[in-house]
Amino acid sequence: MRKKVTVVGAGNVGASCALRLADQGLADVVVVDVLEGIPQGKALDILQAGPVTGLDVQITGSNDYEPTANSDIVVLTAGFPRKPGMSRDDLLWANYDVVKSTVEKAVKHSPNSILIVVTNPLDAMCHVAYRVSGFPKNRVIGMAGILDTARFRTFVAQKLDVSIRDVMAFVLGGHGDTMVPLVRYTSVAGIPLTDLLDAETIQSLVKRTRDGGAEIVKYLKSGSAYFAPSAAAVEMVDSILNDRKRVLPCSAFLEGEYGIHNLFVGVPVKLGAGGIEKIFEAKLTEEESAALQKSAAAVKELVKVMACKLDQPAAAA
Ligand code: 2OP
Repeated sequence: MRKKVTVVGAGNVGASCALRLADQGLADVVVVDVLEGIPQGKALDILQAGPVTGLDVQITGSNDYEPTANSDIVVLTAGFPRKPGMSRDDLLWANYDVVKSTVEKAVKHSPNSILIVVTNPLDAMCHVAYRVSGFPKNRVIGMAGILDTARFRTFVAQKLDVSIRDVMAFVLGGHGDTMVPLVRYTSVAGIPLTDLLDAETIQSLVKRTRDGGAEIVKYLKSGSAYFAPSAAAVEMVDSILNDRKRVLPCSAFLEGEYGIHNLFVGVPVKLGAGGIEKIFEAKLTEEESAALQKSAAAVKELVKVMACKLDQPAAAA
C-alpha cells in the first residue's frame, strides 16, 4: 500500500509541498484547508499533471479531516505568513490558535503519524504541536534548519562560484534572528570555509542567512517564501518514508542535549522511519555554545508566554 501524507494548509507552502510530493511520487497526498474549494481545486490541478509527469499518486483536497485518516506523516503549513517588517515571533498568537486546532483534528484521525511543523514561529509552534498531540518527542519535528542551511549553502556557493553540491554546512538554533550558522563546520569539498573567504565576507553571508526569510518577505510584500521551505519539508518526508536515516538539521525537543532542556531547537538529527531516531551533539566552542544558548533563550521566551494557555486543562482550554 502506498504511503499517505496529509498537508494541512493549501496556501503557497502547502500547495508547493503537495506538488513536490506528487512530483517525486513519494505518497498519496491529502491537502486540507478551511477555505472552501481551494484544497479541492489545487489538488485536482496537481492530479491532472500526473499523465504528463507519469506519476501515479492520488491527490485529494478536503475541508475536513476524514480523508486524512491513517496518514503516515502530517505536514503542518497552515497559519499566517509574515508581512514586511514583522518578525516570525509576531505571528505567535495568530498561529497558536491555528496550530492547536489543526493538530487536534489531524491527530484524532492519524494517531500514529509523524508531525512535521512548518508554521511560524517554528520552534514555538513545534512546542504547541507536541503538547496538543501528546505524541512522543521523536514524532514531532520542525522544518527550519534544512531551509536555513540551504540558504547559507546557496550564498556560499554564489560567492565562490562553485556548485551548491560541494558546499556542506549546518545551521543550529531557533528559526529566528538568533539562528547560528556554524562557520567552523562549513566546508567546500572538505576545505574549511575559513580557508577560502575572509572573516568579513563570511560574516556578511551569515547575516544574509539570518535575514534570508525577511529578504524574501520584503520582495514579495505579502506572503513569505515557499519554494525553498516546501523543498526542505519534502526532504524530511523523503528521509522518513524511505527510512533513509539522513542527518539533517531539524527542530527537535531537547532534554539536556547541548545543555538545553524541554525546548524545541534546531540541531542535527537522524531522520528515519521512526521520525527522529537520534540527536547528534556536535562539539561547540564557547562562543558557538553561547550563540546557541542565546537562540534557545529566544525560543524559551515564546514558550513561556504561551504557558498560560498550554498548561490549562484540556476542557478549559
Ligand atoms: C522563511 O524563513 C517562511 O520561515 C520561513 O522563509
